[in-house]
Amino acid sequence: MPAASRRLRPLQLHARLTHSSPSSDTTHFGFQNVPRHKKEDMVKSVFSSVASSYDVMNDAMSLGVHRLWKHDFVSTLNPGASGPSKCIDLAGGTGDIALRILDHAREKHYDRETTVDIVDLNPDMLKEGQKRFKQTMYHNTPQVAFHLANAQALPPAQFPSNNYDLYTIAFGIRNCTDIPAVLREAHRVLKPGGTFACLEFSRVDNSLLSTLYDSYSFSIIPLMGSIIAADRDSYQYLVESIRRFPSQPDFSEMIREAGFTTGAPREGKGGAWRNLWGGVAAIHAGVKL
Ligand SMILES: C[S@@+](CC[C@H](N)C(=O)[O-])C[C@H]1O[C@@H](n2cnc3c(N)ncnc32)[C@H](O)[C@@H]1O
Repeated sequence: MPAASRRLRPLQLHARLTHSSPSSDTTHFGFQNVPRHKKEDMVKSVFSSVASSYDVMNDAMSLGVHRLWKHDFVSTLNPGASGPSKCIDLAGGTGDIALRILDHAREKHYDRETTVDIVDLNPDMLKEGQKRFKQTMYHNTPQVAFHLANAQALPPAQFPSNNYDLYTIAFGIRNCTDIPAVLREAHRVLKPGGTFACLEFSRVDNSLLSTLYDSYSFSIIPLMGSIIAADRDSYQYLVESIRRFPSQPDFSEMIREAGFTTGAPREGKGGAWRNLWGGVAAIHAGVKL
């Protein structure tokens, strides 16, 4: 674990990670500090603005690489391997992860009983997901359901405790105002033995790659946003929000603080996370014992 994490006790670490400014009434929105109570609406407005072009932009910005990462994420989790799974995909947006979970279970394990609840804060993103699922065999089946809710506070009547085998969140948690609250809710809704898995942009560990990646993300991505989606600002936010997300060791510590058991606090086999493309993205996992 890096020196910075070793020096901080858990409460200090929380304070450092959840509040990027001296005041607990503010938080970050990309590189800006904004009142905490405003961030959720600002994030909602970003995703309402990008919803209709989200899938096209994802392919353009990542040159299709997000598909490989998502495939890797879902294949590693291997849903359906030990019988039908009850899954919940938070910040599910247009349903990319849910679709892969259902396809994987069906194609690899002949499983048509695995289910996914897709949950998102933004009705426009969910609408795009619903349109997309209409073109699939899962439409109008008990295998998929869409829910409008906040990952930080899932209504217990709708999302009871100890209910899911697998909780996924991909490229969503960095947009949440209170990451520890998201992790606590994940722990609550999972069954004992259930798995939490997160795919998120992360910290690049190689300085050359980091320089190339910075110049690509800060100059090309907002430009693509303005050309393809006529929306430079939203894509500027997306790039900035990546840089504000905790490092892999800090995030893995937050997962453990929420009560999950993880691998050792390091990268790779037996570790709490696995880097993709040198840390451009990372997969973190934890189990609720
Ligand atoms: C970058 S998209 C990711 C969508 C999808 N998981 C994927 O990988 O393509 C982030 C999503 O997080 C959702 N989101 C942001 N904050 C949220 C929150 N507090 N609770 C639930 N969803 C949230 C946004 O509405 C948006 O749909």
